[in-house]
Amino acid sequence: MAGLDLLPALIDLGAVLLLALGIKGLSKVSTARSANGLAALAMALAVLGLLIQQPLSPQAWLWVAIGTGLGGLLGLITAQRVPMTAMPETVALFNGCGGMASLLVALGVALFNPGGSSGLVEQISIVISVFVGAITFSGSIVAMGKLQGWIDTPGWTQSTMRHSVNISLAVACLAGAIALPGDMAGAPLWLLVVASSLLGIGVTLPIGGADMPVVISLLNSYSGVAAAAAGFVVGSQMLIVAGAMVGAAGLILTQVMCTAMNRSLVSVLFGGALGGSAPVGGGGEEAGYTRITSCSAEECAIALEAAERVVFVPGYGLAVAQAQHALRELSKLLENHGVEVTYAIHPVAGRMPGHMNVLLAEADVPYEQLLEMDTVNPEFPRTDVVIVLGANDVVNPDAKTDSTSPLYGMPVLEVDQARQVFVVKRSLGAGYAGIKNALFELPQTAMVFGDAKAVLNGLLSELRSMGVGKKVAA
Ligand code: TAP
Repeated sequence: MAGLDLLPALIDLGAVLLLALGIKGLSKVSTARSANGLAALAMALAVLGLLIQQPLSPQAWLWVAIGTGLGGLLGLITAQRVPMTAMPETVALFNGCGGMASLLVALGVALFNPGGSSGLVEQISIVISVFVGAITFSGSIVAMGKLQGWIDTPGWTQSTMRHSVNISLAVACLAGAIALPGDMAGAPLWLLVVASSLLGIGVTLPIGGADMPVVISLLNSYSGVAAAAAGFVVGSQMLIVAGAMVGAAGLILTQVMCTAMNRSLVSVLFGGALGGSAPVGGGGEEAGYTRITSCSAEECAIALEAAERVVFVPGYGLAVAQAQHALRELSKLLENHGVEVTYAIHPVAGRMPGHMNVLLAEADVPYEQLLEMDTVNPEFPRTDVVIVLGANDVVNPDAKTDSTSPLYGMPVLEVDQARQVFVVKRSLGAGYAGIKNALFELPQTAMVFGDAKAVLNGLLSELRSMGVGKKVAA
């Protein structure tokens, strides 16, 4: 019987270990897929461990089954349907669900289980769970709406007025939190819920442009903190440990992304929208270019054929065009021709951390050909041809030289140092930050207008017709 008593604790321990292994495995592309499976198994074990500890009525089992079935089905459909390019929105939505779940757990205990909210630790945990859970939920929904283009940044949120509004909301939260232990199910609880939810909206709404990924990562961290607090509320060690791990991992990722964009967390949260009124997600107008040189796929193919060293720079547009397989095919053709080919990976190229690594791994690009920014930047001066594929902000030289640019200070790929640069994109439209790119007007740059996949296929057929493949076979 003692063994049976130990069973839930052993299941929890197994789940925690699997979760830790899962998070560790996610740090490498080669192990990420199996790590995701491990983490999913950990979650299933955690739910199992919780269920066998609780004596549930048949009615409660029915609710658990309905919730699990519906949640599982929604998760399955979402995972299958969401394109890779919309992953940040999806992550924001999932973070919001995490925040909402922690908020509901704390509300459930505060409203319906007075015994569970009598101790000081439980009361503090309920306050944290409600406060952080509500901020995470409302902030994540706003972040998702902004990334989807459903919500604009209102003008007033770019003035200092937003600080007064947010400080007032924070004071209201504090008042609710202080009064809560004296009246767990009354007005202070609802004050805390409403003020925290509005604070989540007030803090996220002004943030725009290139700062949004940092916010999503921070909200991810918050959802972990809210889950850990909910763990204290219901006395679940598993939830405390898992929440703490998610909170810490999210915070580390936030820090890494801030460093990659040369932004401090304080300026992200309180500095307003990067890129002024630029639309979140980019695609601004084409104004302001006077010295553009464009060329055909044929001219680009001639330069590639003569090159000894070529660097491809993938960006968001490559993912949109789903051109990774065509790119891999072109690389192989060039390698067979004796050209040294590598790929320059900017830490925030694309729309989520590791986006380009995952995209290129899908097309079996060898990991050792993917060079990180610090490694590849010194290599550009000895590079014959750089092909920028649907990337924009991450190759903008203004980030180094123009102190008035919203990107100023963000480390970029220094492709302007290469002998020849071809930029493949459909138009002169802006990237995510919504601003002009000085690279397009440099004398060594030529634009190859078109969809990335169509241009790559064009290059492939041009090179083949020049006999590049045949020379190898001979
Ligand atoms: P962007 O600056 O967004 O530029 C992408 C370019 O791709 C656009 O200028 C667009 O120009 C082009 N494009 C779109 N569809 C295309 C297609 N089918 N074929 C060819 N080109 C296409 O991308 P980036 O250089 O990768 O920079 C990433 C930006 O996103 C940074 O500002 C970063 O801060 C931000 N961000 C990053 C993340 C993470 S963590 N990676 C998350 C969110 C935001 P056309 O319309 O003219 O074709």
